[in-house]
Amino acid sequence: MADNDIYANPPDPDVLELEPVHPGIGDQAYVARRHDLFALCRQHRLGSLGPPHIDYTPEEQRIWREVSPKLDHLHTRHASGIYLQAKRGLGIRADEIPQLSSLSGQLQQMSGIHLVPAEGLIAYRIFYAYIAARGFPCTQFLRHGSKPEFTPEPDMIHDCLGHVPLLVNHDYAELLTVLGRAAVRATSGDHVLALKRLSWFSIEFGLIEEAGETRIFGAGILSSMGEIPFSLSAQVERRPFVTSEVIETDYDSSKMQALLFVIPSFGFLRREVADLVARMGIDVS
Ligand SMILES: [Fe+2]
Repeated sequence: MADNDIYANPPDPDVLELEPVHPGIGDQAYVARRHDLFALCRQHRLGSLGPPHIDYTPEEQRIWREVSPKLDHLHTRHASGIYLQAKRGLGIRADEIPQLSSLSGQLQQMSGIHLVPAEGLIAYRIFYAYIAARGFPCTQFLRHGSKPEFTPEPDMIHDCLGHVPLLVNHDYAELLTVLGRAAVRATSGDHVLALKRLSWFSIEFGLIEEAGETRIFGAGILSSMGEIPFSLSAQVERRPFVTSEVIETDYDSSKMQALLFVIPSFGFLRREVADLVARMGIDVS
């Protein structure tokens, strides 16, 4: 997959650290741009200032215009209808990078969720503290132009084209909030692991049954040109989403996902999350 495991409790550094495998690591202009955006977004996040306006460079717009239409084509064929409708409703276009501040304002009116500017990976509990408060941390930087189909870290294409559209859905927004509150308040390591697995196999890599067809709603799949066709291919085992099984199932974030689970609806998932958290004895009120 082309996405980091954001649930692996990464550090929350106050300086930008690109991974050694990052395609942009030898590009001084790219690294300088990333440092600038890191500082700006971190300042806005820590100051609760909302997403800053970003003047995207021609190169960043080029990367968006190269990747976004290809994903859009795959989404039209394979993404959840609820996702597709939401993406159109938010006016997310394939030819222009959206401003998070505009998307955040729309989301707040539609589902009460707001976007939090994220300078990069955010530590697990801090990430979920934002989710619990009906915020969604979202990056504003782009991957490197030499490999537009690959990113070793969640970037704006992953966040905006993977996660943001479904935030307009009431059931999705509610289940996310409950997950966030449970993740922040969980004191047992077993409970934290169960919540991570549930999130992985739904928010990041979930499939949904719609009108007799298996469609995609997980952001890790929706933001990857390779993972979209792979997830629906014969190489992947797809099982009905049984929560007791999902929370016992391990995953490897460094590989394409060979086992996926299919939910019947977001209402179902919302009820399953609420029941699980109640069984854990975690108060999410
Ligand atoms: Fe993600």
